[in-house]
Amino acid sequence: MNKMYLILLGAPGSGKGTQSKLIVEKYPFIQISTGDILREEISNKSSLGVEAKKFMDNGQLVPDELIIKILKEKLLNTQKHIILDGFPRNLSQAKALDDMMSEIGGSISSVINISVEDSVLEERLSGRLVCKGCGASYHKEFLIPKKKGICDKCGADLYQRSDDSPESIKQRLIVYHQSTKPLIDFYDAKDLLSNVDGGKEVNEIFESITSIIDGRI
Ligand code: AP5
Repeated sequence: MNKMYLILLGAPGSGKGTQSKLIVEKYPFIQISTGDILREEISNKSSLGVEAKKFMDNGQLVPDELIIKILKEKLLNTQKHIILDGFPRNLSQAKALDDMMSEIGGSISSVINISVEDSVLEERLSGRLVCKGCGASYHKEFLIPKKKGICDKCGADLYQRSDDSPESIKQRLIVYHQSTKPLIDFYDAKDLLSNVDGGKEVNEIFESITSIIDGRI
């Protein structure tokens, strides 16, 4: 079977990270999350991390040239099927991805768009808690960890992301509507797009996603 490249498209808080983790548990995929890569650079205090943090905390996209370079390195060094979580984020990144695919002789297998109302996204992001150890996501009201502040899966501490502040969430949603949403039409025109209703329960959404993946494998 050819190597699969699956793109998860969706606004901040639509559940891309949550669904990626479920896909990785069931299928032989690895998740490449550009947001996670940038957060790791920030915690390592690398020059890239210092540069990226200024954009991320303000809810802006990190400049294309930085992110495209990182993504290219990851794509070239991975043999497994890949889920792209958080890339591409605008048309210029989508075109850069097409160029990378041509260079490596690959092709995008499927693009899954997870759609959710803005009011729900704001609620999800403002209450999100993330595990410092394994990256699992929880929510203060909707997905409460068994022990306060501790990850059910690995026992590490939970924290709130610095870009999950009210001002930053607002800005991220504006950037999503301006820059990322047009990718829905871009991939629809290429006949690669499937839509799932991200307002449903996590497991219901995952069922829809598995039927899309099973149809492509
Ligand atoms: P990134 O880390 O990619 O963040 P994001 O796109 O804003 O998405 P999130 O991680 O916030 O949400 P998610 O869709 O993964 O939702 P989750 O599953 O966690 O990017 C961060 C920043 O990095 C960007 O703003 C930008 O600055 C920079 N960046 C990253 N990639 C870039 C790129 N390509 N170019 C330029 N800059 C880039 O779920 C959210 C919450 O909801 C959780 O609490 C979860 O438990 C809960 N939840 C999930 N599903 C459900 C459900 N069905 N029902 C109820 N609750 C749910």
